[in-house]
Amino acid sequence: MTNKSTARAHTNIALIKYWGKANQELIIPTNDSLSLTLDQFYTDTTVEFDANLNGDQLVLNNQLITGKMATKTSAFLDLIRNMASIDTPAKITSINHVPTAAGLASSASAFAALAAAGSDAAGLALSRTELSRLARRGSGSATRSIFGGFAEWIAGDSDANSYAQPFQENVTMDIQMLTVVVDATEKKIGSRAGMQHALSTSPFFKTWVTESAKDLVTIKEAIKRADFATIGEIAENNALQMHAINLSAKPGFTYFNGATIQLLNIVQELRQQGIPAYATMDAGPNVKIISQSTDTETISNAIKSVFPTVTLEVAKPGPGISFLN
Ligand code: ADP
Ligand code: DP6
Repeated sequence: MTNKSTARAHTNIALIKYWGKANQELIIPTNDSLSLTLDQFYTDTTVEFDANLNGDQLVLNNQLITGKMATKTSAFLDLIRNMASIDTPAKITSINHVPTAAGLASSASAFAALAAAGSDAAGLALSRTELSRLARRGSGSATRSIFGGFAEWIAGDSDANSYAQPFQENVTMDIQMLTVVVDATEKKIGSRAGMQHALSTSPFFKTWVTESAKDLVTIKEAIKRADFATIGEIAENNALQMHAINLSAKPGFTYFNGATIQLLNIVQELRQQGIPAYATMDAGPNVKIISQSTDTETISNAIKSVFPTVTLEVAKPGPGISFLN
């Protein structure tokens, strides 16, 4: 058995969000979701099983990690060890080419890369569907990062039938996410706790689930006909609905900060000027502007005029999982 493997997984940003679990332990979502995998942001992870180690070791961005993050990684490796019938500890070395826990989907690329590297190092030859199911157990959004381009996570109702599948892996239409990083520090409320609180206490949660199902049907049709404006409109509205669920929870909360609202206003103003730009936000204040390459300069200038020092990155559709062995 090869006991060492390295995999690269790219992050994905949902256009139809996953926000709520029907089963917390197995990470089965309350609704289907759909995302775009991005080329600019990714995680490289090496897993090496080594009988000489006293326990698992996690080194992230060249720093030895202990505590909750390390425990979560070990619990995930236990799933792999169970599947492979081994009990060998492992050294995990990972580099995030994306800010960690800032709402830019590091958990998606992290657990997709860990699923691929870990299962390969343990000698398991998993299919992409099996990898997607496994990655899901680490972090729901990771299930979609196994695939490139537009990927759809079918919620299912059991471990066996909850996984992502490609919707359109080779994206030929002009679509990009202009990422505006207003704050790259770790969020205070993780997605896991945030979505559970919203599900348990927002009076609008059921409506969120039914509206998302409708949004999914419409956006899939729009993707098929490369209708950029409809994709953007639905994605922005779906994101705002997800954040409305948080505001309406008891007690209410938000991932937005002042800059998020300012950026939402800039995007609206751009649209009034005829520039097709749409915003999406995840569990953090940073804004991803769904846009077309022809408008990069205009949008960047509009943002820089209000936030002269902000970090802007343009991400295009990216690939699915790959091995770097
Ligand atoms: P994000 O918005 O970045 O996805 P989350 O709070 O959803 O934020 O997930 C961040 C968590 O994902 C971290 O706290 C950690 O547990 C895990 N994580 C991120 N990167 C890695 C990595 N490279 N290896 C292992 N775990 C990671
Ligand atoms: C807002 O996948 O990070 O990014 O499954 O609890 O690990 P866990 O949550 P996570 O949540 C992602 C939520 C989101 C929307 C999305 O990616 O669909």
